Parts: sequence; structure tokens; C-alpha cells
Amino acid sequence: MYPDRVLSGMRPTGAMHLGHFHGVLKNWLKIQHEHECLFMVADWHALTTHYDDPQVIESNVWDMVIDWLAAGVDPNQATLFIQSRVPEHAELNLLLSMMTPLGWLERVPTYKEQQEKLTDKDLSTYGFLGYPLLQAADILIYRANRVPVGEDQVPHIEFTREVARRFNHLYGREPGFEEKAMLAVKKLGNKMAKRYLELRTRYNEQGDNEALEAARELLGESQNLTVADRERVFGYLEGTGKMILVEPQALLTESSRLLGLDGQKMSKSYNNTIALRDNEETVTKKIRTMPTDPARVRRTDPGDPARCPVFTFHKIYSTDKTCEWVTQGCQSAGIGCLECKQPVIDAILAELKPMQEKSQEYLDDPTLVRNIIADGGEKARKLAADTLRDVREAMGLSYT
Ligand code: TRP
Ligand code: SF4
Repeated sequence: MYPDRVLSGMRPTGAMHLGHFHGVLKNWLKIQHEHECLFMVADWHALTTHYDDPQVIESNVWDMVIDWLAAGVDPNQATLFIQSRVPEHAELNLLLSMMTPLGWLERVPTYKEQQEKLTDKDLSTYGFLGYPLLQAADILIYRANRVPVGEDQVPHIEFTREVARRFNHLYGREPGFEEKAMLAVKKLGNKMAKRYLELRTRYNEQGDNEALEAARELLGESQNLTVADRERVFGYLEGTGKMILVEPQALLTESSRLLGLDGQKMSKSYNNTIALRDNEETVTKKIRTMPTDPARVRRTDPGDPARCPVFTFHKIYSTDKTCEWVTQGCQSAGIGCLECKQPVIDAILAELKPMQEKSQEYLDDPTLVRNIIADGGEKARKLAADTLRDVREAMGLSYT
């Protein structure tokens, strides 16, 4: 009923590294050509954990956006914006908070986990508890049906779906909903209406998901319904009431196969990253000093690529032939580790070069980035306002 739309967000953690590039950004680059995409800087979410240290947020925001652009996120394809520039998110967050059971928030696994992990911070705040609801508002305000996220965010998407379902259930039931829905069904025409009702029964009585899909497809073909009637027949199909908010699906991004220099997850807090803006000298030094298979103490000791973080880089950056050369040479002590690392250094430098040329353009002309973000914010606000209007009306706040 609503168009396919993708929303994703990142907290402003500053300049991006290769883990972000291979784990998230490459996926954004692909998806921006396939769907309408909104990419958001979640600055309010940063404040939920960094409320005592807000000065870093602004510079982190610009650095992050510059690296998105440098990596190839295209502002002509996707809408790039900053969360706090679209205050509609905050209003939706407030309105949803009225009907969100406290227990749902307390049970989101990241809540307790993060509180236990980030012991140097006092996270017993209202804002931190509300983190997933703010994220739900981010998604629901655009009626985004697809949300590319990593594994760790799946509970937040599940939570968002539950909030949307509860909202539709509570507020999507206009007086006389069933009668109005049946009238709308009649407008499909005899043949289509009959087929729709059959599929609806199959779905509701037998939980047949194929029937649900088929019914949705059928409705996709119908052209003679008003927007309100379309909402009714879609809502009636699932028995939820009018679909005011859209339940999103998580699009799982394969978590980055690129590990950090030490073989752990690449992360700034582990100090094992290669930043997209690291220069040639830094990259070379980082790879040359990177640990290898601990069994290869001397050049003459054979090694095992499976125990070496360098090989995880080869698997991303090198051809099968080079990987073969590494395995052979490592196991037979035929090559040295520095020799082995050189193709990785060359490949990373080649990958970074065009990005660095591009980020330099944005660093030299900051207004370029400001304008992109201002445009994106404007577009996002228009979309957000549409949903918010329906939400206010559904909750009895239209005051016409
Ligand atoms: N919580 C997400 C993270 O930590 C960031 C985020 C905020 C987000 N709002 C979002 C992601 C909406 C997807 C959709 O990575
Ligand atoms: Fe690692 Fe390559 Fe050295 Fe083997 S030769 S230990 S794969 S760096």
C-alpha cells in the first residue's frame, strides 16, 4: 500500500573505518540504487549515552557524513539527514510513549546489556530506557518497510513492529471499521472481491502466509480504490484495523567479515582500525606491524593462515590465486610475512585512494556538506509531516 522505503541510521561515531565500509556502507551503496533510501545521523541517540559529553557530537556528525559521501553514498539517490533536524521524530516518540508498555522497554535485551557493559556511565535515565522507542519513531515516521541493520539491532526492529501493531490496533479502528472495510472490498469488483475474501479467510483461519502475500499482490493490482479504502482493505486483510503505521522488516547486513588488525571485531575502542582517511604511511605501518600467526616466530618457521589475521584481509582483498600463494608460502615458510602483507597494503591503498580524494573535496568546502544535509532534512521533514498528520488525527489531536 505504501511504497518500498528504506531507512537506516548510525550514531555519529566520527570518521569511518574499513569495518564500517565493508560492514555497512557497501550495503548502502548497493541499496540506494534499488529503493528509496533515507540515511540518518542519529545524534539524539548519541546523547542517550553521551549526555555528559555532548561537545564531541557535532564534529563527529560532520566527519561521519563526509565519509559516507566519500564512500559513495549519493545525495542524488538517497536522502541524508540529521535526526535532530527533523523534530517530527520527537513528537512521534512522545505520542508513541503514551501507549508503549514500560515492560516492553525494560525487556529489550540491549537495555540491560549496555547498562552492564558501560559501567563508567550512569545509564539509569529516562532517555536511555527510551532508546528503542526513539528508534521506532525514526523508522515509523517514514513508514519505512525495510531497515538495514546488523544482528545486534534485530530486537529493536522487532520492538518497532510490536509498537506499530499495537498502534494500528488501538487507533486504526475507526467507528464502523468492518462495515467500511466491506464496502471498500465491494469496490474491488465481484471477481477480485471474492478472491480477496477467500485469501483473507485462508490467512486468518490457517495462518497461510502465501495467501496473505497473494492477497497483497492482488490489492497491488487494484486501481480503483481511494487511499482511505486501500488502507481499510489492507488492514482488514490482517484483522488489525487500518494500517496507519507500517511494520518494518530488518534487512540483515552480513556483519562485516573484515576483522580488526588484531583479529577481533574492528572497532575504535579496540584500537585496531584502519580509518578511511588514514594516509599511505599510516596504512603501511599498521599492516606491517600487524600480528601474524604466533607460531611463526622466525622467518624459517612454517605458519598457518587460518591462525593469522592477515589472512582474513587476504580473503577480502585478494584473488583466489594470491590466497593460494599465501597458503602455500606460509605453510612451507617459502614467503616472509612482510612479503605476504604487501598485496594487502596495495589493495587497501587502492581502495582508499578515490575515497580520500573525495573526502578532501568535502573537507575543503564544508558548505557542500552543509547544503546536502539541509536539503536532506527538508525532504525528510516533508515525509515525516505526512505520517505525523495521520497519527495526530488517529489519536484525536487534529483540531479541525
Ligand atoms: N541504534 C542504531 C545503532 O546503534 C542507530 C539507529 C538509530 C538506527 N535510529 C535508527 C538504525 C533507525 C536503524 C534505524 O546502530
Ligand atoms: Fe600470516 Fe602471511 Fe605470515 Fe602466514 S605468511 S603468518 S598468512 S602474514
